Amino acid sequence: MEHYFTNNENIKSNLRSIDYTVKNTSFVFYTDNGVFSKFNVDYGTNLLINTYLDNCKKTEEVLDVGCGYGVIGIVISKINGQKVEQIDINKRALHLTEMNNKENKTNNKVYESNIYENITSIYDVIITNPPIRAGKKVYMTILKEAHKHLKPDGELWFVARKDQGAKTIEKELREKYNINLIKKQRGYYIYKADFALTN
Ligand SMILES: C[S@@+](CC[C@H](N)C(=O)[O-])C[C@H]1O[C@@H](n2cnc3c(N)ncnc32)[C@H](O)[C@@H]1O
Repeated sequence: MEHYFTNNENIKSNLRSIDYTVKNTSFVFYTDNGVFSKFNVDYGTNLLINTYLDNCKKTEEVLDVGCGYGVIGIVISKINGQKVEQIDINKRALHLTEMNNKENKTNNKVYESNIYENITSIYDVIITNPPIRAGKKVYMTILKEAHKHLKPDGELWFVARKDQGAKTIEKELREKYNINLIKKQRGYYIYKADFALTN
């Protein structure tokens, strides 16, 4: 079985478009085989976006980690006017994110990065629906290393599922962050982590 994070050019393309509305703003997203949640915006992603928009400080710079076809970063830049960068390891996802920025008239910087490998800036916000299928090491590195790429008053926003160990993840992250559970819905937990303490 091919996973959504593998770069397999042999996966046959089947470009489609999906409609998505958030806060009365309509978006169109191109999706394809070989990327995460190709038929509709994922439940956890949608909850993360809405919870973020309802509670965020509207600070300037945002990094969307594991952007997939780009939904989180595109919605944030469109609705909040925040400056957004979007990264992923999957080239097809990055290509779709470029297309979706054009389609939705946003101008985010989109580039390839294995976790934070190509990141040189620091941000006010890192936001992610992390790739559980990429394994615990990648998943936890995205969350644990985020503080190195955040400003001192920056925030890490993420979604985790109860049945995929949200409570354990929360406990592990307490070593590095203050963790706030902002929203709980149908087994999806939305967290805001702040105050990077070390390194
Ligand atoms: C759960 S999906 C979320 C996609 C999108 N943000 C959304 O919410 O629809 C996680 C994303 O992380 C990406 N990913 C997996 N491993 C990665 C890595 N090592 N570095 C960067 N991104 C990675 C996958 O390609 C996938 O697009």
